[in-house]
Amino acid sequence: MIQNTTRYTKTAVVLHWLIAIFVVVMFAIGWFMADIPKEGPKQSAYDLLDLGIYTWQLSEEVTARTFYFNLHKSLGITIFALIAIRILWRVTHKPPALLTSYKAMERKVATGTHHLLYLMMVAVPATGLLTGITSKYGLKWFGITIIEGLANKPIHEASATAHEVLTFIFLALIVLHIAGALKHKFVDKDGTMKRMSIFK
Ligand code: HEM
Repeated sequence: MIQNTTRYTKTAVVLHWLIAIFVVVMFAIGWFMADIPKEGPKQSAYDLLDLGIYTWQLSEEVTARTFYFNLHKSLGITIFALIAIRILWRVTHKPPALLTSYKAMERKVATGTHHLLYLMMVAVPATGLLTGITSKYGLKWFGITIIEGLANKPIHEASATAHEVLTFIFLALIVLHIAGALKHKFVDKDGTMKRMSIFK
């Protein structure tokens, strides 16, 4: 439990960057899929986000909206599991103390932002799950049915709104977090980034 080093553990670093990548991908898919019309032609292959990088092959033909919504839900369930592991790791492994060079205000902002980021890492996927469960479609994880849809319109609409609002709060916190990291790297030129670096 006690950790005296100034770096995060390898596990904490890997989970931090894995989840950060997942979060960016989830934002990209989330925004991309929001504009797809409900009706549309069915296909069994989709060029991911129309980037020309990877074509996803399916075993059946579905509309673009179904494909992207199912992908968003499947990745959402996966990232939620990773976040659960990360939180479990965090509560059992004390993070290294903040650098002593931080001013009192910086300490408050950094600690507060980290705690709120953890809160959003739970609240955003949790409201997403609730939105999926209360829809008429339910939840599937890469084709495996997790739960049939409950088709509860009032809860579905409330959780969808909460999911969207929380997403914007999450994004604002991430922007603040990255701005802080860049300030420490380029203005203060201290060792903050090294603490979370994959490389020694
Ligand atoms: C380019 C993107 C990012 C950079 C450069 C970055 C950088 C960092 C750094 C340097 C730290 C260690 C701060 C310290 O000295 O204590 C840190 C911690 C943290 N980061 Fe990020 N981060 C990024 C993206 C994200 C994202 C997307 C999330 C949310 C999913 C996130 C969540 C966190 C949390 C919660 C901590 C605190 C870890 C703890 O104390 O348990 N980061 N980040």
